[in-house]
Amino acid sequence: MDLFQAQERIEELSEQLRQHNDAYYVNDSPQISDYEFDMLLEELQRLEAEYPDFAQPNSPTKRVGGSITKKFETVVHQYPMLSLSNSYSREELIEFDQRVQKLAGKKVEYTCELKYDGVAIGVSYKNGQLHRAVTRGDGTKGDDITENVKTIRSIPLVLKGDYPEEFEIRGEIFYPLSVFKALNESREEAGEDRLANPRNAASGTLKMQDSRVVASRKLDCYLYYVLGENLPFKSHAENLSAAESWGFKVPKKSEKLFATYQSIEDIFEFIDFWSTERNHLNFEIDGIVIKVNDYYLQEELGYTAKSPRWAIAYKFKAEQVETRLNEITYQVGRTGAITPVANLEPVLLAGTTVKRASLHNADQIEKLDIREGDLVQVEKGGEIIPKVVGVNLTHRPTNSEPTRYILNCPECDTALIRIEGEAKHYCPNESGCPTQIKGKMSHFISRKAMDIDGLGEETIEQLYAEGLIHNYADLYTLNEEDLLKLDRMAEKSVSNLLQGVENSKKIPFERVLFALGIRYVGETVSKKLAKHFKTVDAIINASLEEMIAVDEIGEKIAESLFSFFQVPENLDLINKLKSYGLQFEIVETASTQISNIFEGKTFVVSGVFETYSRNELKKTIEDYGGKNVGSISKKTDYLIAGDKMGPAKKEKAESLDVTILSEQEFIEMLDK
Ligand code: IVH
Repeated sequence: MDLFQAQERIEELSEQLRQHNDAYYVNDSPQISDYEFDMLLEELQRLEAEYPDFAQPNSPTKRVGGSITKKFETVVHQYPMLSLSNSYSREELIEFDQRVQKLAGKKVEYTCELKYDGVAIGVSYKNGQLHRAVTRGDGTKGDDITENVKTIRSIPLVLKGDYPEEFEIRGEIFYPLSVFKALNESREEAGEDRLANPRNAASGTLKMQDSRVVASRKLDCYLYYVLGENLPFKSHAENLSAAESWGFKVPKKSEKLFATYQSIEDIFEFIDFWSTERNHLNFEIDGIVIKVNDYYLQEELGYTAKSPRWAIAYKFKAEQVETRLNEITYQVGRTGAITPVANLEPVLLAGTTVKRASLHNADQIEKLDIREGDLVQVEKGGEIIPKVVGVNLTHRPTNSEPTRYILNCPECDTALIRIEGEAKHYCPNESGCPTQIKGKMSHFISRKAMDIDGLGEETIEQLYAEGLIHNYADLYTLNEEDLLKLDRMAEKSVSNLLQGVENSKKIPFERVLFALGIRYVGETVSKKLAKHFKTVDAIINASLEEMIAVDEIGEKIAESLFSFFQVPENLDLINKLKSYGLQFEIVETASTQISNIFEGKTFVVSGVFETYSRNELKKTIEDYGGKNVGSISKKTDYLIAGDKMGPAKKEKAESLDVTILSEQEFIEMLDK
């Protein structure tokens, strides 16, 4: 390839990737599979590394991050980042409308939008290129977090269409709740504390120094406000829809995320709609924002020191209920972490009946002086698990006594410990506490770890109670004769179980490492360790310093790993597992393409499956030469339909004559 060809290919790839990015993240209608996208991106990365002079500053390769920001520069906002005045009642909105109308001397048009509960961001563009992204800070100046923001796929790096030469666009960056939930699940798997709420988590992520980590976190962003000297239109609604044509993800009218109204009654209806419908969104909102649509009128209304007079936020009351706290119980996790749980008088909150709520840790109980028998306020935040946020002291029973946090493990009575700097208490009896042992075994057999079919938590309980297993290595010594003696164990289930155990011996090293259940060693960390050290012996023999030298392995993880391998029982377990034939070395594979039976075929995978996870299904499709897309169109060949698939998808597939396959039918196609 000569220089000219390289430059041309770089430009061509950048443009293609930009279009596919837009189709996927902004318009929700992917045209190529994730695999194809990654291939194009890899080619561009290779070319940019070879011909750095041609790499564009806003190249799509910026999406994967790579730059490290040691200190975020402080930048003065060109336009101050004001806040909105809040209202909590309809009367206040009526007063707002009256003030505005009085000044306008006529009926006024308003826009209604959601009030996104995320991190405010101002992104400026020059000549269609993302120039800078700055946090709100104190409103006058904020932090330059450009490199991190560039990794957010729904924020365009290069614009399309007819955009002004220079302008700024403001919006809110947030964690989709599904992403936040998955993040917390993987933290929990790694024995780390859950993050309290999506907003703080987003704010923390955006301040990370390594943009590669930010890129892996799948943040999203809605843009809701355009500012500049030469904007194409004189109304907010028109400018937002213009911004959509330049490639921004803006709240859409068609999704009822945006509306224009002339009457306060219509605004109330919008509020009523979202006050319940918000429970079905994949992100958090904390109210509705009402803005005067016309820019001239906005200017006339002007600003107070803190906020515009042409806009107001209607804040939803945090969904809160009061109920009786019957009892505080304590849960022991598989790593020994203790979580206090509030057992409540069942109560309806945000559409679901709540019986239990998290009390987090001893400090939280002490801070709020939460006691059994109290009437407590329970709130549903971003967390799926509700939390106790306050106590109604006026109703405290007269005989009430302060809560004394437990000193011993509720399961094995060992004295609890509290490591300095950590919020949680731990039961240190790792190899003797039954709950921890069973928890570790459940983790070991789980889908993302050893994925042992035919074995569930109940069976683990049974096997443990009968004394057939004392740790996860014992699973490999189970035999037919012993198992058949157990209750509810017929020949078929016994053979399934033994087959599942046998199959797990093929599970790759990184998952075996994850399955061991070492505190702070989650899926991602396991992969990193396996890739770096290649064998378990190399990890066992590594010093603390050598562990910390691995990308993304910090002191906390290294110390946990190091001390795990210091314990003779743990080494003994590993030796046993080795002797049973489990994988303790990495097997490096090249291409995974197995066959091309699905060449030219396009698949949509939707719902929940029994044998495969959704990702495994997608990978299998690609391994057999097929292509995955996100939504059904005329060009789709197959819809693989799992449980819980929405009826709309099925209807669409039927109307477009797309073949619908069950998971079993798909597996049969592979077998053929
Ligand atoms: S417009 C001058 N629209 O709420 C006002 N703000 O408390 C410009 N927010 O700083 C802001 N959703 O961070 C606007 N649809 C929306 C919003 C929104 C959330 C945030 C924003 C603002 C804060 C004010």
